[in-house]
Amino acid sequence: MPERRLLFEHIDVPGIEGIDVYEREGGYRSLRKAVKEMSPDDVVKEVMTSNLRGRGGAGFPTGRKWSFLPKDGRTRYLVCNGDESEPGTCKDQEIIYRIPHLLLEGVLTSAYAIEAEHAFIYLRGEFKGGYLRLGRAIAEARAKGYLGDNVLGTGRRLEVTLYLGAGAYICGEETALLESLEGRRGMPRLKPPFPATSGLYDLPTVVNNVETLAAVVPIVAMGGAEYAKLGTKESAGTKLFSVSGNVRRPGNYEVELGKVTLGELLNDLAGGPPAGHTFKAAIPGGSSVPFLPPDKFDTPLDYESMRQAGTMLGSGGVIVLDDRASIVDTSLRLMEFYRHESCGKCTPCREGTMWLEQALRRMVTGDGRHGDLKTLEGLMAHIDGQTFCPLGDAAIAALGSALRLFRGEFVSCIAAQDHPLEEVAQ
Ligand SMILES: Cc1cc2nc3c(=O)[nH]c(=O)nc-3n(C[C@H](O)[C@H](O)[C@H](O)COP(=O)(O)O)c2cc1C
Ligand code: SF4
Repeated sequence: MPERRLLFEHIDVPGIEGIDVYEREGGYRSLRKAVKEMSPDDVVKEVMTSNLRGRGGAGFPTGRKWSFLPKDGRTRYLVCNGDESEPGTCKDQEIIYRIPHLLLEGVLTSAYAIEAEHAFIYLRGEFKGGYLRLGRAIAEARAKGYLGDNVLGTGRRLEVTLYLGAGAYICGEETALLESLEGRRGMPRLKPPFPATSGLYDLPTVVNNVETLAAVVPIVAMGGAEYAKLGTKESAGTKLFSVSGNVRRPGNYEVELGKVTLGELLNDLAGGPPAGHTFKAAIPGGSSVPFLPPDKFDTPLDYESMRQAGTMLGSGGVIVLDDRASIVDTSLRLMEFYRHESCGKCTPCREGTMWLEQALRRMVTGDGRHGDLKTLEGLMAHIDGQTFCPLGDAAIAALGSALRLFRGEFVSCIAAQDHPLEEVAQ
């Protein structure tokens, strides 16, 4: 079962991070085609036709998002979300580090399409290597006339500013990212208004993920209709999946959406579980979505199928556990992350993640109490749908499913601590 490489087509070509090799492999043809042969609206139409959905996690249709920009003559901005702090997700980093001109070409082509003269690329604070690579790519592209005051002699202006965040997961949430980009502490803004009308500096702004913007390059090259033939009707195109954890060949794989099952990705591409072990579960969309047990591994990797199976495609970061992994330990590790990354703005998330972490830690360290399962469920009920931004729901998605699918592990974890089994199970 092969990969279907569009974004990664040239990623293994030696020297592809430099502009000369990138151009030799056909790079910057989409930008040239867009600015020389197409109007901005033509590019938006191609993206609409392609049925591309945002690859940052929510899967919102990209062309539709672009069409929300008000046509009122105000300055517009494009912001590329390269925060990528979702656990288990490292696909954007691979684009940025190994084929930075693909992202830059996607950003410039998309900025042209939405008629933004200025684009910002926001990178997570820890990603200094990617920052340097992209900085070099921008300088190379400027020297060749792909950005600046007179792009490819068309008289159009396209500028790109690189920004390194301070290393906070919440800054991947688009409005917290905008706060951070404006120089403030990264905390989510109230929505509405949405960035399309009041975004960066209160001006109309599109925020898109790295992979989404990179996908605009093949869409312009092949045409939206051809791109839409890849994948399924609702989930078009190819998608990058980051596979990590208990597999023999962890890494990033690009496949057509809906044409490959989770099991095929894990067994055929990622090499299956380590010798002598079997899969126990996977979280298919970063850590913010429910677990899937192995009897659901025949689910195709697309937005709709994953939802029907009780989880979400999310960022495409597949975290795999084999029979040695403890679900309770894993739940604690994830809750530590969310407690640490909660921005503290709203009480259910700030306090709830802290109490959930404490209850899980008690279980793991031998102090579990027989009421702890009820405590977990009660705390989750106070978070579910009650928080200011989606981080709260994200924090409890995996734990909620773990309690449904692997309740016995929690029960025996507490029972092993000398509590009568029937008391614990209640
Ligand atoms: C807590 C949280 C973290 C997020 N982190 C990221 C991220 O690292 N990268 C990203 O592209 N989107 C992230 N998102 C989603 C963004 O808010 C936004 O929907 C996305 O950048 C839009 O791009 P897309 O339409 O191309 O998917 C996050 C959302 C939440 C709630
Ligand atoms: S849900 Fe969490 S991260 Fe989001 S605003 Fe509230 S405290 Fe901050």
